[in-house]
Amino acid sequence: MKIEKVGVVGCGLMGHGIVQVAAQGGFEVIVVETEQTFLDKGIARIEKSLAKLARKAVEKGKQSEDDASAFVEMARGRIHPTLDKQELADCDLVIEAIVENMNVKKALLRELGDICKREAIFGSNTSSFSIAEMGEASGRPDRMVGLHFFNPVQLMKLVEVVRTDATDNEVYEAAKAFGKACGKAPVSCGDTPGFVVNRLLVPYMVQAIQMLDRGDATAEDIDTAMRFGCGHPMGPITLTDYVGLDTTLSILEGWCERYPDEPAFAIPRSLRRLVGEGQLGRKTGQGYFNWEGDKRV
Ligand code: CAA
Ligand code: NAD
Repeated sequence: MKIEKVGVVGCGLMGHGIVQVAAQGGFEVIVVETEQTFLDKGIARIEKSLAKLARKAVEKGKQSEDDASAFVEMARGRIHPTLDKQELADCDLVIEAIVENMNVKKALLRELGDICKREAIFGSNTSSFSIAEMGEASGRPDRMVGLHFFNPVQLMKLVEVVRTDATDNEVYEAAKAFGKACGKAPVSCGDTPGFVVNRLLVPYMVQAIQMLDRGDATAEDIDTAMRFGCGHPMGPITLTDYVGLDTTLSILEGWCERYPDEPAFAIPRSLRRLVGEGQLGRKTGQGYFNWEGDKRV
């Protein structure tokens, strides 16, 4: 089963990174958004990131100026932005990276089931939802896998490849090979809430926010403690801003609905309040901290 042409639906925080690493891996990529402004914003981020990677490669003596420019041009040339989902019809693999809302994801997968060729593989970048449920919605559960990339996709080396009881073995192997071709280290995981990373990471973020809400320590001190005490690159409060408070809340709400007796998934008060106020973290410039562009201020 050969994957050559890849579709990515959603060009936000995660989608733009997936588009980029797939193009860097040599795949032709069709990327679909709902509005031209979102598409333009995602493509601008890709261009900025490609330029950054090229500049670094030159600075480190890994590439000549000419090779670096050719790398940028080649990767950018493989990316085809569109607002028309019909352009996904002949993709070999279509990955959804849209909002963390199961009803919206299921509606999209139903639509993809009608549009895409029969042998196409469907991948989901969901942080927390059931891959099997999405497979059912698509009408072809045997072609469905989880392909969970990490933020920022360009730099994080992991991809979790999630198979359900229905996933065809060939589909799973092709998805794993795709992850490798994108420069990632794939790990396998069953179709469980949060897979490996988020089942450990999200409850840790919840504990950190609850600590803040109780007044046990400041956000700054919680983060410094985990950076200098445990060697984490970012503290848990900054990481929540980085992931997006809306996405974190959606993950927890989905889990609370399905596992109401699990204390590890309890939603911190401040998280709900900040999302209600439109303070979503790095993407809106305000969350637990203030942000300017990609940097905390
Ligand atoms: N493209 C290209 N280059 C990028 C980039 C991008 N998207 N983002 C950052 N860089 C570059 C920066 O420009 C910088 O380059 P210079 O060295 O030339 O200055 C370099 O990468 C390092 O970046 P920073 O200086 O900003 O900071 P850093 O050294 O702390 O590294 C980080 C940034 C890799 C994000 C690091 O802080 C980190 O690993 N943080 C933890 C991230 C994490 O845990 N992610 C998982 C989130 S959970 C998830 O994804 C799952 C889910 O479902 C919610
Ligand atoms: P985001 O809000 O930044 O991007 C979502 C994008 O999808 C938006 O640009 C939106 O316009 C688009 N979209 C929504 N519905 C669409 C549709 N029907 N068709 C086409 N485009 C549509 O969100 P994100 O942080 O990129 O998250 C995307 C997915 O990746 C979620 O499932 C999330 O849980 C998962 N994820 C997020 C992170 C993270 O750190 N934020 C990490 C790993 C996985």
